[in-house]
Amino acid sequence: MKIQTPYSFLNHIIVVTFLLVLNTGQYLSLNTNNTDIDFLHCLIRNSDDPDSISRVIYSPNNSSYISVLQFSLNNLRFTSPTTPKPRFIVTPVHESQIQTLVYCSKKHGLEIRTRSGGHDFEGLSYVSQLPFVILDLKNLKSVTVDIQTATAWVQAGATLGELYYGIAQKSRNLGFPGGVCYALGLGGHVSGGGYGTMRRKYGLAADNVIDAQFINVHGKIVDRKSMGEDLFWAIRGGGGSSFGIILSWKIKLVPVPETVTIFAVDRTLEQNLTKIIHKWQYVAPKIDKDLDIRVLMFSVVNPSTGNRTIRATFDTLFLGGIDRLLTLMQVEFPELGLTREDCTEMSWIEAVVIGSGFTNGEPSEILLNRTALPKNSFKGKSDFATTPISEDGFEGIWRFYNDQIEAGMALLVLTPYGGKMDEISGSAIPFPHRLGTLYMIEYVVGWDGNETSPHISWIISLYNYMTSYVSNSPRRAYLNYIDLDLGVGKNYAEAKDTWGSSYFNNNFNRLVKVKTMVDPSNFFKHEQSIPRWF
Ligand SMILES: Cc1cc2nc3c(=O)[nH]c(=O)nc-3n(C[C@H](O)[C@H](O)[C@H](O)COP(=O)(O)OP(=O)(O)OC[C@H]3O[C@@H](n4cnc5c(N)ncnc54)[C@H](O)[C@@H]3O)c2cc1C
Ligand SMILES: *[C@@H]1O[C@H](CO)[C@@H](O)[C@H](O)[C@H]1NC(C)=O
Ligand SMILES: *[C@@H]1O[C@H](CO)[C@@H](O)[C@H](O)[C@H]1NC(C)=O
Ligand SMILES: *[C@@H]1O[C@H](CO)[C@@H](O)[C@H](O)[C@H]1NC(C)=O
Ligand SMILES: *[C@@H]1O[C@H](CO)[C@@H](O)[C@H](O)[C@H]1NC(C)=O
Ligand SMILES: *[C@@H]1O[C@H](CO)[C@@H](O)[C@H](O)[C@H]1NC(C)=O
Ligand SMILES: *[C@@H]1O[C@H](CO)[C@@H](O)[C@H](O)[C@H]1NC(C)=O
Repeated sequence: MKIQTPYSFLNHIIVVTFLLVLNTGQYLSLNTNNTDIDFLHCLIRNSDDPDSISRVIYSPNNSSYISVLQFSLNNLRFTSPTTPKPRFIVTPVHESQIQTLVYCSKKHGLEIRTRSGGHDFEGLSYVSQLPFVILDLKNLKSVTVDIQTATAWVQAGATLGELYYGIAQKSRNLGFPGGVCYALGLGGHVSGGGYGTMRRKYGLAADNVIDAQFINVHGKIVDRKSMGEDLFWAIRGGGGSSFGIILSWKIKLVPVPETVTIFAVDRTLEQNLTKIIHKWQYVAPKIDKDLDIRVLMFSVVNPSTGNRTIRATFDTLFLGGIDRLLTLMQVEFPELGLTREDCTEMSWIEAVVIGSGFTNGEPSEILLNRTALPKNSFKGKSDFATTPISEDGFEGIWRFYNDQIEAGMALLVLTPYGGKMDEISGSAIPFPHRLGTLYMIEYVVGWDGNETSPHISWIISLYNYMTSYVSNSPRRAYLNYIDLDLGVGKNYAEAKDTWGSSYFNNNFNRLVKVKTMVDPSNFFKHEQSIPRWF
């Protein structure tokens, strides 16, 4: 597999942007060209309600343009003055306004970037090198829960927090197996797969979708029946942005017990962490499906020595009470030394609030505030482990984290698979990482400020080190941790040899077939969107 070096990619972007700025100023100034005015007129002329649509169109002339741009922008890496900005941001309050937008964008040659929660790792929902408009779905966020059928319709612009809160308002016995971070948008998260702390019991968010409302390249609204099973398959894990615009999902809710138990136990290298993690690899993917033990690793300064060490948090959700949890842990994972005092029983929604990073006791209404947590600049990558890593292998990772400059805000997360994840076929939806996967690895490095500097080369050197310890041919990656370092090949062959196989493995060809069928002109595209056959 060829991996384009990230520096060549970044340099390319910087050079291209710089030239465009010098030549035309079109991305950075208020200069408006005829296309913009024509586009604006097109939107107004083709709308049932011109007043209403003009209230949801922002050009750089509008004073709130920057605040609307930044509201759902979650990676400050893409706020630098050289980042290309949209010609317009449209925040529809009605679906027909999206249909009008699709028509006018095609007519006037503007690319559409659709944004739901704005958590894209590479900023693809709000940055493009071509003239573009952001379709921001923040106003389309209704959540309609039906307890009788244990289903819900949820609009793409809703956050996971709004969904979880909406479910909990109606029932203490239902939940949804979506992501951990409450501010993720349903549009991007579910269309890229979407895993959370209940995946070992219920699979991915996308495994629990039973219908969808979707706008295709012709501006037509279709549902599961009228879009057909191929497209319905593709948008559950293949990424919505290659195919069209997801308006809403119909999801299956899952049973959760009245009482769940959580613990977050820390261990450092001085407390035999390497041995414990080594054992964890054999336990966490095999243990009872009710139990999810993720490991989050940081580099920290040991206050008593002043030296750096590694601290790992064994972060756990158990779908049951303390007694059964303690028995399980005693039998399967005594090395962790879990005690009753480490554990807390609570409701599922309380566990969601804590899992999102809020302190115990914060009311669940906090889940409705999508800007409650601070933002930073970050770069992330992913891997899948199919065999246990040796203790020596982990010692090598620790050496990267002892590099004082970069390690301060670097995080490594190990997410165990097994359970339901093993039972679902690798081709049921485009997400292929099922039976045979022990755990997923996520690497993230964050920093203040919006310059990229040395942090990216640090994470790449760690990723290179990991090559011999993780899946190969193809080396796998998770679409929702989208990573342009894997390549930005535009045609079928380039894409298949690089990121196409990493994210989708044997499902890539079917995605290409669907793309060729539903969007033959390749209107919906980005740096790693699904290509057509030719
Ligand atoms: C802090 C943080 C925590 C995370 N935690 C988890 C986690 O626990 N589990 C997990 O699985 N992932 C996690 N992720 C990854 C997350 O699932 C992806 O970033 C996901 O794409 C975010 O969806 P979004 O709608 O918020 O993002 P956006 O940036 O809005 O969209 C992401 C992509 O989807 C496209 N898209 C968005 N909405 C639509 C739509 N309506 N129709 C068509 N295409 C659309 C965008 O164009 C873009 O290509 C996390 C990310 C971050 C930054
Ligand atoms: C942006 O400015 C234009 C022109 O002044 C105005 O018509 C439009 O309503 C403004 N948009 C918003 C959302 O206020
Ligand atoms: C922005 O303002 C300038 C100067 O007033 C004007 O020429 C231009 O047409 C406006 N652009 C849009 C998109 O309204
Ligand atoms: C990004 O950095 C520039 C200076 O380099 C600064 O002017 C701008 O405000 C920053 N953006 C954010 C959102 O921090
Ligand atoms: C680490 O493991 C050794 C034996 O393997 C044991 O003697 C020691 O008590 C352990 N240390 C801690 C802090 O658990
Ligand atoms: C701290 O690190 C220094 C340099 O590596 C080492 O010499 C020293 O022994 C360490 N101190 C402790 C208490 O481990
Ligand atoms: C959301 O949280 C932020 C940060 O704590 C706070 O400033 C803001 O006022 C909150 N918004 C609402 C609507 O509560």
